[in-house]
Amino acid sequence: MPDAPRVLGLHLSPNPTGTSRALLDKFGSGVLEAGVGFSILSISDFNNLSGCVECGACGKTGQCQIGDDMEVFYQAFETAFKIVVASPLFFYDVPSQGKAVIDRSQALWSKRYILGENKEGRKGTRGFLLAVGATKGKDLFTPITLSVKYFFDALAFPRTFGTLFLRNLERPSDITEEQYLEAKAAGFEFAMTN
Ligand SMILES: Cc1cc2nc3c(=O)[nH]c(=O)nc-3n(C[C@H](O)[C@H](O)[C@H](O)COP(=O)(O)O)c2cc1C
Repeated sequence: MPDAPRVLGLHLSPNPTGTSRALLDKFGSGVLEAGVGFSILSISDFNNLSGCVECGACGKTGQCQIGDDMEVFYQAFETAFKIVVASPLFFYDVPSQGKAVIDRSQALWSKRYILGENKEGRKGTRGFLLAVGATKGKDLFTPITLSVKYFFDALAFPRTFGTLFLRNLERPSDITEEQYLEAKAAGFEFAMTN
């Protein structure tokens, strides 16, 4: 029997009990309600994640030479078909630890664009971005959307993806019941969409 389709929750906050995690858990409850497996990989569980050092090795081999906790993320990215990125805004973008993970996806970018793997994109993949910020500007989520767009592209996922942007959230106690329901409904729909 083939494995049940799964959704990977990529949590990019260093806070394991913060706003984005509470909403990602709720998103996950919607995924599970749709009968689809759900697991979370959070940068808050790892303390050995280097940024990209621009050594160029992955451009020759497709493999990153650093050899730290990023190995877990590479493995997850290459096997996942649905990924929801959940992140707070730190100065309009993902937190630096999450940016390290995005920058290190350069190894996958190299496989795709230098070595020619997954040139046409990985069929059946789909992404989603759930982002939260404490303020409420109109363009609040523009930078993170671009970062995540090209992150998904490196993974050979489509450049277009679903989004849920939630403003005015500084801590989990700010999240309204309606916002929790929105997150759950988004998870359900994401799991159901092929
Ligand atoms: C270093 C830092 C930078 C932040 N920058 C922004 C920002 O640019 N825009 C914004 O709306 N909120 C900003 N915030 C607020 C967080 O996005 C907000 O509190 C969020 O709910 C935290 O989510 P988390 O608990 O999942 O980490 C910042 C918070 C920190 C700690």
